[in-house]
Amino acid sequence: NTAEAKPVQFPIPANVYAETVVSVKHYTDRLFAFRITRPQSLRFRSGEFVMIGLPNAEKPVFRAYSVASPAWDDELEFFSIKVPDGPLTQHLQKIQPGDTVLMRQKATGTLVLDALTPARRLFMISTGTGIAPFASLLRDPDTYERFEHVYLTHTCRDRAELTYGQELVASLQDDPLIGEFAAGRVTLYNSTTREETPVMGRITTLIETGKFYSDLGIEPLNRETDRVMICGSMHMLRDVKDLVEARGFVEGSLNSPADFVVERAFVG
Ligand code: A2P
Repeated sequence: NTAEAKPVQFPIPANVYAETVVSVKHYTDRLFAFRITRPQSLRFRSGEFVMIGLPNAEKPVFRAYSVASPAWDDELEFFSIKVPDGPLTQHLQKIQPGDTVLMRQKATGTLVLDALTPARRLFMISTGTGIAPFASLLRDPDTYERFEHVYLTHTCRDRAELTYGQELVASLQDDPLIGEFAAGRVTLYNSTTREETPVMGRITTLIETGKFYSDLGIEPLNRETDRVMICGSMHMLRDVKDLVEARGFVEGSLNSPADFVVERAFVG
């Protein structure tokens, strides 16, 4: 004869979209991906981020999430870390299809194609959940209209954390819209730092020693032919930025497009 405790319903704040969770996929005890419905009025460029929250408080906590799905998709995909005591992710990791997720109405960000000047090769350098904006850009035809070849590097602690990116790149081939653009023009380069795999080490070390180039049989980074997009932890951003600046690359923006752009992989 015990009444079920009813979850408290909080009103949806003004100027926030309330969207429905479509699917959730857990990759490891630290990483998961989810898809939500897309508000019709949301406009974004592939590579941008939005602010995500949950309707579980009067004043919900919002965190920045890169949209992992392309701008043409009618759902929104996100790739998230799970932090045991993280103000948002301790709850977000428990979402189920049908649940409500809140989203602020503006998308923004620096990892956009318009911030880069034309070149032949595009290098997307990522660690951990920093792969998310590249999951969006790799599914955008514009990427292939601007660049001949895309090199995506993804470094994680262990093998299981690489799965999301491997599935993403494998799925490009069969994608009805992107398949013919991407065919033979995307190279995924994985490494791990805390579990033994064929390629071990941080991407900064692999580039500096030249192993990255020799493994792929490609010419070294060169400002004349290449552009670089960087997304990962604060330390990773600083180190990769130093590395490309040491090779003469200039940071670009929408106002002043140039050779490389950086964005922090947010929730940590
Ligand atoms: P490491 O294991 O040596 O710290 P995290 O999950 O902690 O965000 O890390 C994701 C990946 O990024 C790990 O493989 C980690 O390596 C790597 N990493 C951390 N700091 C840097 C850095 N400053 N430069 C390059 N890679 C880094």
